[in-house]
Amino acid sequence: TQPVLLDVDTGVDDALAILFAVAHPEIDLLGITCVAGNTSLENVVANTLRVLDVADAPPVPVAGGALRPLIETPRASHVHGSDGLGELSTHPDFAHPRSTRAADPRHAVDLIRDVLLASTAPVTIVALAPQTNLALLLRQHPELAPRIDRILFMGGSAGVGNATPVAEFNVWHDPEAAAIVIDSGVPTFMYGLDVFNQVTIGRTDADALVASPRASARFAGRLLQFPMGDDPDAPDAATTDAAFATADARYTGHIGDAGALCALVDPGALRIERHPVRVELAGFARGQTIVDRRRRAGEDAIHAPGERAGSAGALPGPALVDVALDVD
Ligand code: BDR
Ligand code: CA
Repeated sequence: TQPVLLDVDTGVDDALAILFAVAHPEIDLLGITCVAGNTSLENVVANTLRVLDVADAPPVPVAGGALRPLIETPRASHVHGSDGLGELSTHPDFAHPRSTRAADPRHAVDLIRDVLLASTAPVTIVALAPQTNLALLLRQHPELAPRIDRILFMGGSAGVGNATPVAEFNVWHDPEAAAIVIDSGVPTFMYGLDVFNQVTIGRTDADALVASPRASARFAGRLLQFPMGDDPDAPDAATTDAAFATADARYTGHIGDAGALCALVDPGALRIERHPVRVELAGFARGQTIVDRRRRAGEDAIHAPGERAGSAGALPGPALVDVALDVD
């Protein structure tokens, strides 16, 4: 099994990823840290505990972290419904009658530190959210970097964005944090929109899950039915059972963040290339991940005009990132 820490902003598709992580035999889930992103930190923590209840997961520490990005103001995304969980956080079908699950009292950064120190093997961090918690960790405890096997993050894009024409939501929400993580020296793997948007499940399969006798399968089905995409014909938010029932038959379920965990356990399903990557921090393209896919990307690769070398004379090359570019 692989020791894994999840960092989330649950989030309809983060919820699918948590269900996957709990159920997958190769994943040893050591903890979950929460960050403001899709919805407020308070909602993210509550939603995460709710998902673990529905999954009937063994005890796993869940800690709240950053309330907001390093510099930006929080900009919750409304595509996940008013509660961030597709209106399922209060759905009676998924209430756990005897839940005693509560958030860990530690801050997310302290939980990650403790998990890294306690693990005998390097830990993979899977980040499905703005990377504020991870940037804080790497700034506060740089000595722990060697204990991280790699950071696999859902975020960025080598092509089009979703939050802006060129920026993907998680990186756009906290561009400085993403830049700190990518430039940290820890090996990184980018599961960006290039593949994120390709991994879908048909309406029929989602409906079959909804009809399951198992609560966690029904829950996954409901999450997959929630119209999160850009389909102009989809209801604004499926707030009632009737809205779910009338959702367009053309609908395709996006597994979203759960795909990053598929990439963890089955990397062979993806075309992955190592390229220099830089996060744009200024101007209209703020939050864009510039992936230098030229064949002879050199030291000049993606330095801004006028950027100055430090006293050592040479500009540091941009960080190399394993980028998932296509689904095979
Ligand atoms: C990312 O943003 C969020 O809406 C999703 O949970 C995913 O992590 C996609 O851009
Ligand atoms: Ca997410």
